[in-house]
Amino acid sequence: METDKNYRWYKVAESMAEITQRGQRQSMVVNLFGTEICLSVYNQQIFGCNNKCPHAGAKFSDGWIDATGNIVCPLHRYKFNVKNGYNSSGEGYHLKTYPVKETDDGVFVGII
Ligand code: FES
Repeated sequence: METDKNYRWYKVAESMAEITQRGQRQSMVVNLFGTEICLSVYNQQIFGCNNKCPHAGAKFSDGWIDATGNIVCPLHRYKFNVKNGYNSSGEGYHLKTYPVKETDDGVFVGII
């Protein structure tokens, strides 16, 4: 089981407000070691996933999160659970997710 200690944490924002202030989609993209990570806010929590859709590469930063917590790809509208990357619309793909934590010092993304 992966624990907090397994990750190296990288600061990506000062606060959740920095993400939500970026407009209606309430998401932002950060680049960590050549990987674009999409940070999205759902139910006052921040979630991180690879910004590139595992189906055909569209960017989740152009998508949205639906009412049940699925991040929806803007191209073919496949859905993935924003918490664990499960392909909830059933096409058999998996979306890589990243742990995100917010502390008094900022917002951090965990990389193994
Ligand atoms: S590119 Fe995302 S569902 Fe096809």
